[in-house]
Amino acid sequence: MTVGKEWTEQSIQRIIDGLEHKPGAMLPILHAIQNEIGYIPEKAVAQIAESLLQTRAEVHGVISFYHHFRTTPPGKHTIEICRAEACQAMGCRSLEAHAKQSLGIDYHQTTANRQFSLEPVYCLGNCATGPSIRIDDDIHGRVSLDRFDELVASHQQDMKEVG
Ligand code: FES
Repeated sequence: MTVGKEWTEQSIQRIIDGLEHKPGAMLPILHAIQNEIGYIPEKAVAQIAESLLQTRAEVHGVISFYHHFRTTPPGKHTIEICRAEACQAMGCRSLEAHAKQSLGIDYHQTTANRQFSLEPVYCLGNCATGPSIRIDDDIHGRVSLDRFDELVASHQQDMKEVG
């Protein structure tokens, strides 16, 4: 997952129009919008409500029920920490505490400089080499606290080179 992409009312409406006739269209629409632009803008909530003949509160209710959905743009990089059983056995709980403290954010939040968002994930298919994390599209195994700091620093460096 990367930083939120540009969107317009029309681009969101095209997504809604393509899915609104499916049974239980709300979830597919929310997934499609988040996949496309990285989050669910407030404007999209109004458009979804209008198209599906529901209230904004009902759309917000679904969004807030599923932690997967976010209503603010993600950071430049998304860090996902595996909380599933095999990684728990390898110390993911101390890794996630370290990540939260060093980044200064909790799960589902983004750092003030908008470089990193932190999300939990439940198995990355990398169970043999836990604790595992994914940064954007790259999975990393045997992530010690020091290794986590190195990975974060390398992605900050990446930002400096790009920026
Ligand atoms: S349990 Fe963490 S990668 Fe499978």
